[in-house]
Amino acid sequence: MRNAAITGWGMYVPEQVLTNHELEQMVDTSDEWIVSRTGIRERRLASTTEDTTLAMSCRASKQAIQVAGIDPADIDLIVLATVTPDKFMPSTSSLLQTELGAHRAAAFDLAAACSGFVYALAVGSQFIQTGVYRTVLVVGTDALTRFIDFTDRGTCILFGDGSGAVVLQASDADEGVLSNVLGSDGRGAHHLYIDGFDSNGLYAANGNGAVEELQRTYMKMNGNEVFRFSVRVMGETAVEAVNKAGLRLGDIDWLIPHQANLRIIDAAAKRLDLPRERVWVNLDRYGNTSAASVPICLAEAADSGKLKPGMNMVLVAFGAGLSWASSVVRWGSQGVRGREAERDG
Ligand code: ACO
Repeated sequence: MRNAAITGWGMYVPEQVLTNHELEQMVDTSDEWIVSRTGIRERRLASTTEDTTLAMSCRASKQAIQVAGIDPADIDLIVLATVTPDKFMPSTSSLLQTELGAHRAAAFDLAAACSGFVYALAVGSQFIQTGVYRTVLVVGTDALTRFIDFTDRGTCILFGDGSGAVVLQASDADEGVLSNVLGSDGRGAHHLYIDGFDSNGLYAANGNGAVEELQRTYMKMNGNEVFRFSVRVMGETAVEAVNKAGLRLGDIDWLIPHQANLRIIDAAAKRLDLPRERVWVNLDRYGNTSAASVPICLAEAADSGKLKPGMNMVLVAFGAGLSWASSVVRWGSQGVRGREAERDG
């Protein structure tokens, strides 16, 4: 089995900032409540013209390709995790392939909500480890704020938009994706969902079925149930991934968690016995960016220089499904070399 190493990374967040204080003008909430209950201070909103899912994916992917120092034509596969594609068909990944000039690549989208990127990383790494492909682009992008009801204080405070991407490459060195754990429990589907279209091609009824109700579809969430689920599953699945990698908790250097709520992140860190300074947190600036949250964290952590070759990190996420996913990744030197080449060049 070959290893699947992360050799490139990139991220993009929209320019428009929505602060808690601005939300105070929109719904009955306060900066103090949002910060103390979630840790979020502001989030980014996708512009309807500039920040399509394709455009955001393209920006993050180009950075990742540049850091890896590869030719887009070398990419064998693109897996793009999103639940907010610009079109039902074709897949956003096919459109992205053309934008990038990755003409040889197979391409498909993957939907696992906020767990999507970690699911996609598992899929991409399997194709490399089994020797089918050598170079895979894994992207996580969402613009969930397009489906948020900005009169619902239970959801509108939580979400933001963005994209993150990594390049995975075959490596014979002791690095890369060491384990994956994926899970889903559809019995909890009703706790977190966005309706699709009904048999007439209209948005499925959100409310009483009146025509005007059919024009718009919004996220529906039972926050308390999702909170309880996530606190349990984030710690459990992270520990399972560590065991599956043949490591002990003491071998883990970094936790790169899905950014939904600081209290959920703290619970996962406690389960892994990691202090806060070993946990990447950016939800104060971006909120919950769904499939983009883990790769945005990863890109920031990599750019900070705090990830050293040989360090082990746990990536862990949960989301609608209800779903969950975790991977243990050993940071290698290939990415570092890519960065140096970029600087020198
Ligand atoms: N501002 C002020 N008060 C509020 C707000 C708000 N924005 N929202 C709720 N409240 C009120 C409630 O009405 C309630 O008032 P009451 O006691 O008078 O009834 C009180 O605050 C407490 O409400 P809770 O819902 O119990 O608050 P909680 O501490 O559970 O926090 C939250 C709510 C932040 C939504 C939390 O449950 C959470 O983070 N859940 C997880 C959600 C999540 O991560 N979803 C994304 C999943 S990823 C994906 O796939 C998209």
